[in-house]
Amino acid sequence: MSGAGTLPFGLPPVSLGTWQLRGREASRAVQQALALGYRCVDTATGYDNEQDVGAGIRASGVERDDLLIVTKFPEEDAGRERETLLRSLDLLGVDHLDLWLIHGPLDPDGSLAVWERFVDAREAGLVRAIGVSNFRPAQVDDLVARSGVTPSVNQVAFGPRWFDPALLRHHAALGVAVQGHSPFSENDLGHPVLKAVAGHRGRGVHQILLRWHLEHGVPAVAKAASPAHLTANLTAGEFALTSAEVAAIDRIADDAWTGAAP
Ligand SMILES: NC(=O)c1ccc[n+]([C@@H]2O[C@H](COP(=O)([O-])OP(=O)(O)OC[C@H]3O[C@@H](n4cnc5c(N)ncnc54)[C@H](OP(=O)(O)O)[C@@H]3O)[C@@H](O)[C@H]2O)c1
Repeated sequence: MSGAGTLPFGLPPVSLGTWQLRGREASRAVQQALALGYRCVDTATGYDNEQDVGAGIRASGVERDDLLIVTKFPEEDAGRERETLLRSLDLLGVDHLDLWLIHGPLDPDGSLAVWERFVDAREAGLVRAIGVSNFRPAQVDDLVARSGVTPSVNQVAFGPRWFDPALLRHHAALGVAVQGHSPFSENDLGHPVLKAVAGHRGRGVHQILLRWHLEHGVPAVAKAASPAHLTANLTAGEFALTSAEVAAIDRIADDAWTGAAP
């Protein structure tokens, strides 16, 4: 199958999600994840943990240039983009971000106004790349048409429940990388098709889900605090699914699907 070898924007197959991780637990999870080999850490101003994430990064000893650090701008802070960015950089303890995302869309004029400040930040060297999150294709089109600047990434909820081949085709044609958030919390982990594929492969349902993302060329952002989970999620790049297995999982979103094992 395609996918894992050609991930866009240099995103690794699985990034560490940090929503709901706080304090020492957040720093420990980040440090542990980086020691295990994670190289992309996803946070957000709204997660209220950038300082803890930064402490974990520093404690890991991993070189800054070997890491992708992603944070998100809360759309309710519109008008305070530079101030919010400088605070994120300060809390994280870095002089630039690798990727800065608008956490969610505003109305078209509002998104454009924020986006123009994002472009300024990129030109100032404070962020390497800029993107969006939770934007629908029409909202991405609108932003590109009005600004002339294409987001590098759109981070969206992804998984069998959200499987939308039209969105993938649209973003691929535009050159926008799709990154999938909430691979577990937004999906039905008990679905019989996932359980059947997991049983057949001798893997966990979580690993199957992450691998399914990669088969569609979509890197995932998965949160894990437990060392066993952190380790298991890194194995998504180590095996492949057959096209029949991928198609069966694709059909989970289809109401007509009977749930028969592939
Ligand atoms: N852009 C956005 O609007 C947006 C929205 C939501 C999320 N996100 C990002 O996406 C990340 C992931 O989404 P999420 O936080 O909703 O959660 P998630 O990654 O879908 O699920 C996390 C849960 O799955 C468990 N888990 C992880 N790996 C496992 C494994 N191999 N086996 C069994 N259980 C496992 C974790 O347990 P333990 O923690 O106990 O290990 C945790 O309870 C977020 O942290 C955030 O960075 C972005």
